[in-house]
Amino acid sequence: MSTKVLFIGDVVGKPARIYLKDILPRIREDLDLDVIIANGENASGGSSISSSTAEELFNSGVDVITSGDHIFKRKEAKEALENMDVLRPLNYGKLAWGRGYLIKEIKGNRIAVVNLLGRVFMQPVDCPFKAIRDFLPQIKEEAKIIIVDMHCEATSEKLAMGYFLAGKVSAVLGTHTHVPTADERIIDNFTAYITDVGMTGSFDSILGREKYQIIERFLTNMPLRFNLANSDVRIQGVLLEIDPSTGGALTIKRVEYRKEE
Ligand SMILES: [Fe+2]
Ligand SMILES: [Fe+2]
Repeated sequence: MSTKVLFIGDVVGKPARIYLKDILPRIREDLDLDVIIANGENASGGSSISSSTAEELFNSGVDVITSGDHIFKRKEAKEALENMDVLRPLNYGKLAWGRGYLIKEIKGNRIAVVNLLGRVFMQPVDCPFKAIRDFLPQIKEEAKIIIVDMHCEATSEKLAMGYFLAGKVSAVLGTHTHVPTADERIIDNFTAYITDVGMTGSFDSILGREKYQIIERFLTNMPLRFNLANSDVRIQGVLLEIDPSTGGALTIKRVEYRKEE
């Protein structure tokens, strides 16, 4: 029997959380899921996460929350990162709040979830390739199934991580751009890969935020505040089937759910 994992893209604020609460329990049952992983870097008001927001996602059925460059933008994130199954990218280094990977035991299988952050067109951070290279032997000792969230702007850097970890981890899944790509594949018959899984939030928007405010920012170059958009809410992600005896991925499929309005 394969292990079924649903990985969903960046959850943007309350509209996304409400929709997840509505339908995630049903999706879990319909797809007979073993694990649900969600990127929560935008979960609280579009930026970062608090423990109450993380709790909401866990109550909806999410097992592990990953994140990215926005995670430290609220001080409330510290509590969630230190006490809950919420990850920050591994390559922030030892001194940053929280941890970059965790192991979950689900239905007798040990599953590792790892979070990495890219560096191309992003703020400076330690090298994600060296970080995973150093930690991988330890992670492999603890779990066969290893899911990596590669949170990153550049497609080339994400693809490079996919091929760098080919045959070594179950999946390398891109997040951060909020736009899904149509390049899912299984590399070397083992590692599921997609450049970006997309997002969870309003699509009548620019990356989940009010579109006219973003246009205003482009017109003025002023650092304006953005509100979250609320209509045409969708969940985007990928569904993985993994062989628990080898840790190799068998299938990767893009999924999308649209809220009825
Ligand atoms: Fe994001
Ligand atoms: Fe991001």
